[in-house]
Amino acid sequence: MIVYHNGRFLPKDEVYLSPDDRGFLFGDGAYEVVRASKGRLFRAAAHWQRLQHSLSAIEIQYPTPTEQLDHVAAALLNQNQLAAAEATVYLQVTRGVALRKHSYPHPPVATTVYGFAAPFVPPREKCQAGVGVITVPDQRWSRCDLKVISLLPNVLANQQAQAAGAQEAVFVRDGVITEGSHTNFAAVREGALLTHPESCVILSGITRRAVLELCDELHVPILEVPLRESELESVDEAMLLGTTSDVMPVIRINEQQIGVGRPGPVTRRLQQAFHELFTRETSPNPDSHLEPPNRSRRCEEADSPEL
Ligand code: PDD
Repeated sequence: MIVYHNGRFLPKDEVYLSPDDRGFLFGDGAYEVVRASKGRLFRAAAHWQRLQHSLSAIEIQYPTPTEQLDHVAAALLNQNQLAAAEATVYLQVTRGVALRKHSYPHPPVATTVYGFAAPFVPPREKCQAGVGVITVPDQRWSRCDLKVISLLPNVLANQQAQAAGAQEAVFVRDGVITEGSHTNFAAVREGALLTHPESCVILSGITRRAVLELCDELHVPILEVPLRESELESVDEAMLLGTTSDVMPVIRINEQQIGVGRPGPVTRRLQQAFHELFTRETSPNPDSHLEPPNRSRRCEEADSPEL
């Protein structure tokens, strides 16, 4: 496997990562996971923009042009024989190597950049049949809009879901459903899509944004409102949205069946529309580079605390 490390492409077992790396010691860094199909990235510009947003919020300087990140992703796919396959590209940037001390290294040190591409099998069966999820207390911090590598609460929550035979753990904060451990969450009630508004308690998911655009196109009303866990009984459908989950119907939350216990019609329409959008945007035509305007709201505009 050929990986990317600080500007070089090399076999994975030749990478030297320092034990003093702040990513290793503190989880001090940010990352992205991008889907690729036949060598084309889905909404790469939005991912790179989100990476820059995460990095600048945690004050890591990584002013790399997005064309260069596109180039890194393309080279990883090519050099790992994934240019004709379904794949994901992972890229992470940490604050770099310095003797352990909580405050930033002074003077600043070079960031550590690590990336790899991996084969990806789209979760078709789960998307067809629907999955169960559990709810767990949201024990994360107050900047969940940042895609940072310190993911312990997400790891613990997802493990709890796996142990319970569920696909995903959905976080509940102050009685409100925020998002999953590695997905956004949406529900359907009386034909409208309900999802938590963008704020510091959810990641502004690329898949979520795409699905909201599709709702506009399909005239599915959108309610970006907090949904209380106690209101789950009243929803007709639910779904997980994410780069590695696509639009995945949720048919059970804890012991409770959602709707009739099968993927519902709005979920199915959005699934189909998302599949078509993904296929179109990862197809070799000139329009595939066009991205719709970014409808995300920056966390700093919300009332939540800053770093
Ligand atoms: N996770 N919320 C959280 C907490 C996530 O970690 C992710 C993605 C999402 C969905 O965002 P997007 O549609 O942009 O993938 C929402 C990635 C896939 C991961 O950590 O592996």
